[in-house]
Amino acid sequence: MKKKPFVSLEKLQEIVKEYPTPFHLYDEKGIRENARALKEAFSWNPGFKEFFAVKATPNPFLIDILREYGCGCDCSSQTELMMAKAVGCKEGDIMFSSNDTPEEEFRYAHEIGGIINLDDITHIECVEKAIGKIPETISCRYNPGGLFKISNDIMDNPGDAKYGMTTEQLFDAFRILKEKGAKKFGLHAFLASNTVTNEYYPMLAKVLFQVAVELKEKVGVSVSFINLSGGIGIPYRPDQEPNDIYAIGEGVRKVYEEVLVPADMKDVAIYTELGRFMLGPYGCLVTKAIHEKHTHKEYIGCDACAVNLMRPAMYGAYHHITVMGKEEEACDHLYDITGSLCENNDKFAIDRQLPKIDKGDLLVIHDTGAHGFSMGYNYNGKLKSAEILLKEDGNFELIRRAETPEDYFATFDCFPIYKKLLEE
Ligand SMILES: Cc1ncc(COP(=O)(O)O)c(C=O)c1O
Repeated sequence: MKKKPFVSLEKLQEIVKEYPTPFHLYDEKGIRENARALKEAFSWNPGFKEFFAVKATPNPFLIDILREYGCGCDCSSQTELMMAKAVGCKEGDIMFSSNDTPEEEFRYAHEIGGIINLDDITHIECVEKAIGKIPETISCRYNPGGLFKISNDIMDNPGDAKYGMTTEQLFDAFRILKEKGAKKFGLHAFLASNTVTNEYYPMLAKVLFQVAVELKEKVGVSVSFINLSGGIGIPYRPDQEPNDIYAIGEGVRKVYEEVLVPADMKDVAIYTELGRFMLGPYGCLVTKAIHEKHTHKEYIGCDACAVNLMRPAMYGAYHHITVMGKEEEACDHLYDITGSLCENNDKFAIDRQLPKIDKGDLLVIHDTGAHGFSMGYNYNGKLKSAEILLKEDGNFELIRRAETPEDYFATFDCFPIYKKLLEE
């Protein structure tokens, strides 16, 4: 399948007149259509709620859009919790799925009405210490270990993941939580990431639903919600079939009927904590080709770098690239598309067949709407880019300005050197 950018060259030319490249651009129309589809796909479950994984794209303007479709926030840190509060999340709208959590973050999450999702059995004590009691509503994260397989394909390796509790710990944790007065329980697991198959959620649901039934029978704990977390992937590569959220919703419904309903657990709410699926395809990184270099290989240097999008450097992740205005030209040039960091892995693409790129061409790097901007850092003193929303009516709006040297030096503002740093 050919991957098409959600923005035209003409529109981009209009935007770059106002905001210099590089920047992340988001597609309001796509975000809304997708959020609506997710809601519909799980409408069979009256308690369904998506808690958007804030870490994927921590931008209040984008989260505001998702809030219109009933989404809450899944947070992993103090600042994410602060953002959830700022966008109006109230009691029951925040899931705090953190790990290695500082005590004060448990306290703050509880204060603002967040549901604490315990990553470890030892955190029961931490939470008790932090807030003086066990909250009435509490959730536990499960890690069954081993490999997570669909058919014979290894999807991921939970046995090697730092998250969650073993089966034995999970049962003990619920027993202890019940004894300590908890009233409403949740069960959570995240066993595979970026799954491009409709089978992941139903398979995960089956594992969790069966555990929930056992918890009821053996511990007398009846869970109120089951959180399937994140993990629904997106087709980064043009040859991948996108997931069908309706098939996924239906797959989970079938397992629900098969496992939970016969156990008289037909009121269990399904929660999700999707990030990538919610925004990944609806964001792109727009960058300009500023150099071409002909040495042992052919290089195109752009004005974005791994600071703006770390996934290729970090995981060797594939991101499709469109050379704007040259969509129909033959891909007869072999390029490494690079950023400017003093790191040889700062390459958005390696040995990629693309049309001939000229200096000044605009490149769209696809599928950066989740875990894109947010993973950025400031290596080499590089500044983070702006974020722009392409609205449904075709207008565009700045939703985060680009960083300035003042931002970069801000943590020196209590030292005399600060003024000198900013002298022209
Ligand atoms: C606890 C938790 N929930 C949800 C997510 C979102 O995952 P994804 O973006 O793959 O849907 C993540 C991602 O790292 C996570 O750590």
